[in-house]
Amino acid sequence: MNTDDTRELLREIDTYVEDLFSPSDEILEAALRDSRRAGLPEINVSPNEGRLLQLLVEMVGARRMLEIGTLGGYSAIHFARALPEDGALISLEIDEHRAGVARNNVERASLSQKVNIQVGDAHELLSTLIEDDEGPFDVIFIDADKESYPDYLDASLQLVRPGSLILGDNTIRGGTVLNPQDATARATREFNERIARDPRLSSIVLPLIRERIDGLTIARAL
Ligand code: SAH
Ligand code: DHB
Ligand code: MG
Repeated sequence: MNTDDTRELLREIDTYVEDLFSPSDEILEAALRDSRRAGLPEINVSPNEGRLLQLLVEMVGARRMLEIGTLGGYSAIHFARALPEDGALISLEIDEHRAGVARNNVERASLSQKVNIQVGDAHELLSTLIEDDEGPFDVIFIDADKESYPDYLDASLQLVRPGSLILGDNTIRGGTVLNPQDATARATREFNERIARDPRLSSIVLPLIRERIDGLTIARAL
């Protein structure tokens, strides 16, 4: 099968699963529409990955969550929906404009009570969370600048307890991690390797398909 046929098949499979498990949802669609109108890049998780993330959060019965990289709040809405009424999500975003779009999207979803979007560089915000003893979080989702994934892993390890999940988005990146040619792919590969060999973690990289193949790293703190 040639590359175009493979891409088409990947797209069809992704759509097949999406049609089965992600019926149309006005709030999520409005969040994507407003994000697009506000000029945000369309790099949110896919509906299928959103469902997978929601399921993982439900499976561990998470109450307190941390997200690194908010964008327009599309993944945050999935997480907040998976949390109980008194649950809380802290989401970190460096870009004030994006954080504003996300706050509106979260408000429309009636989830503002559970979601606290903090604006700033995640490196600094994470140091503050550690200093202020804000952990442990039950689930941490790493989805900001890929070059910083190894740093975000170090910080995350200080903010979890045994049984917590550390998740990393975009950890296959079309296969560029196999033979990294740039800083992003190198950092992503280092992130996966460190997670794989860390004796404090039990982990896997789950390849995910969309229009291209990407992946979600899933680690459970022991
Ligand atoms: N989780 C979102 C997508 C996040 S895209 C979703 O799936 O809906 C990655 C986001 O990380 C971008 O909005 C970008 O502005 C933000 N980001 C990049 N570098 C950052 C940093 N150093 N600190 C905090 N956020 C950062
Ligand atoms: C990019 C970032 C993401 O978080 C994502 O899910 C897809 C792409 C990017 O920076 O290209
Ligand atoms: Mg991502």
